Amino acid sequence: SPDLVVAVDGTSGSGKSSTSRQVAHRLGLRYLDTGAQFRAITWWMLHHGVDVHDADAVAARAAEPVVVSGTDPLEPTITVDGEDVATAVRTPEVTGAVSPVSTVPEVRARLLALQREVIGAGGIVVEGRDIGSVVWPQADLKLYVTADPSARATRRSAEEGGSDATATEQVLRERDRIDSGRATAPLRRADGAVELDTTPHTLDEVVDLVLGLVRDLP
Ligand code: C5P
Repeated sequence: SPDLVVAVDGTSGSGKSSTSRQVAHRLGLRYLDTGAQFRAITWWMLHHGVDVHDADAVAARAAEPVVVSGTDPLEPTITVDGEDVATAVRTPEVTGAVSPVSTVPEVRARLLALQREVIGAGGIVVEGRDIGSVVWPQADLKLYVTADPSARATRRSAEEGGSDATATEQVLRERDRIDSGRATAPLRRADGAVELDTTPHTLDEVVDLVLGLVRDLP
């Protein structure tokens, strides 16, 4: 169906992004990377000298950044106040600050409204931590994607051109800890979500698995 909504949640570095983009492309659906939106707000806070570990300071300015997501799965874009931040939001500085910023309810509320507006048009694969549980519980298909922490770290450091896998694993685990432990919209498997452990699988295998789940939808 052209109105299909697929919610893809899971731990950091589990292969959610690559899987979501390929599935969207293969099905002719749009793609929304909500992690990029949280990263964009985090980048803005850092850029404006806001102390990202001071939740009150972050909350006080949460209404200011204007985040816009482009939803082409082959070329997703992200801008803040009109500035292209696709590269800037992937720096270790942003990656290290995004989980604390994402605990702030004012930040989440702001993005929740934006996310629901984009998803409401239908026909989309949406990737994040709380899509199936909070943002769009009525999704046609919900996935909860995980992988072994050391497998995630090995893949991620290969993507990063051979960075230290042990350090990468620490960063991934710390993000998972904060994302799962926060009070507002914590990372967890949503009711009705299909759990996919990607540890023993290649990307192509996971994509085929998901396409099969979509095909089997009532
Ligand atoms: O998906 P990605 O790793 O880019 O997400 C970056 C961070 O954004 C996550 O670690 C989490 O803190 C936050 N996030 C969130 N809710 C979402 C998507 C991402 O809290 N729906």
